[in-house]
Amino acid sequence: MKDNPIIVGLDIGTTKITTVIGEVAPNGTVDIIGEGTVASEGMKRGSVVNLERATHAIRQSVQIAERVSGVRVGSVFVSVAGNHAKAITSHGLAAIRRNQEITQADVDRAIENARAVPLDPNLEILHTLPQEYVVDGQEGIKSPVGMHGVRLEVDVHIVAGTAGPLLNLRRCVQEAGVRVEGFVLQALASGLATLEAAEQAHTVIVIDLGGGTTDVSVFKRGNLAHSACIPIGGEHVTADLSQILKLPTEEAENVKRKYGAAIPELADPDLTLEITTASGSTHAISAFELSRIIKPRLAEIFGMVRDEIDQALGPVELVAQGVVLTGGASLLRGTTELARDRFRLPVRLGRPRGIGGLTDIVSGPAHSAGVGLVLYGIGQDGKVPTSVFQEEAKPTAPTPAAPNTQKGEVATSTAVVTPAPPKKEKAKPKEGASLMDRLRNVFKDWM
Ligand SMILES: Nc1ncnc2c1ncn2[C@@H]1O[C@H](COP(=O)(O)OP(=O)(O)OP(=O)(O)O)[C@@H](O)[C@H]1O
Ligand SMILES: [Mg+2]
Repeated sequence: MKDNPIIVGLDIGTTKITTVIGEVAPNGTVDIIGEGTVASEGMKRGSVVNLERATHAIRQSVQIAERVSGVRVGSVFVSVAGNHAKAITSHGLAAIRRNQEITQADVDRAIENARAVPLDPNLEILHTLPQEYVVDGQEGIKSPVGMHGVRLEVDVHIVAGTAGPLLNLRRCVQEAGVRVEGFVLQALASGLATLEAAEQAHTVIVIDLGGGTTDVSVFKRGNLAHSACIPIGGEHVTADLSQILKLPTEEAENVKRKYGAAIPELADPDLTLEITTASGSTHAISAFELSRIIKPRLAEIFGMVRDEIDQALGPVELVAQGVVLTGGASLLRGTTELARDRFRLPVRLGRPRGIGGLTDIVSGPAHSAGVGLVLYGIGQDGKVPTSVFQEEAKPTAPTPAAPNTQKGEVATSTAVVTPAPPKKEKAKPKEGASLMDRLRNVFKDWM
């Protein structure tokens, strides 16, 4: 048994269930010492639809992580899908006695007053996240304790989850043999794992492109200020390919991961795939054409994110200074470039960072929410723990190799790659190249 505190995240996604075990050193740094991932079962769009199957999958995921770490898991922080959560920002006020310093009790009173909003009885508050404070009209105060003033105001972002789905989740986790330490909004967890120190001073949009959902969070000076969930993700891209190319889902997924690109101009111009449809007929398709099928779905997702933020906060370009893309589906080649084009903001790929230990296993974008749950568990205040930035200053583990294959690689099973013809000095389409050059110049710090 380890002596340091152990914090465990259980990320229940639409495609996978992942347990991440973190060990917190006395200086606050976190080592990931166990990980267990299994295919998601008994779940549909973040809800339990089959108690037994979901329990079984959760148990398996926890047991794998336990075996890897040699630690027995007692309790876990569990992710909650955004489609079962409702978030509001509420204003709280506390009067301060004349000539007295603001105390923690005054701050708590202001927050408590903000919490006193009528909420649907079917909702359970998950997070109460104070934004910045205002003292006698002076805005932008992070910590008002010790200041003088007569009027303390605070905006509090309240995230509540729907009771029914939470009860079902709790039951499955408990039946799998572990206790629920807390529920955490997936979008918050993904942000905590990926936001960098410099981004704490700005407004950044974190987009977790998952399998069945896209979770969006807006962090304003390090605080979660808005969140949303779009019920479309990487599985829909796969479904489009499967339907249009008449491929079995598994094969469409394989083709997407290996040869797909979110921007046709970034697809290998020399690559032609020979694909065998579900009915057995074969036909050829270029990687360029493949990407032309992929692009509209991702563009639709980014369009929906834009609309959501436009409605809630205002035009994206004015509201935020950057976008962080994470989640498994952000691994598709060209996704970052497409996002840059759609948001007209600097965009980078976000991976979990600021951790040690099994970084080779959990450093992919699909692990952001799982690692974020562990980081949430350290402070439980919805902020990136400062220890993460200490760890970040150290050299990080090498990032995994790019998922797409190289030119001419022999493909598996039914999708056959025609080897690239002898080098034709054929450059990528001119328009795409110039667009990329332009983007590289504008966002060179983000590439
Ligand atoms: N190398 C890759 N290239 C392209 N897409 C990928 C790659 N790896 C994973 N994906 C896609 O990522 C998606 C799964 O992402 P992720 O593991 O983040 O989902 P999840 O957490 O289970 O789902 P959600 O967050 O929506 O509940 C799948 O649609 C899969 O096709
Ligand atoms: Mg996820």
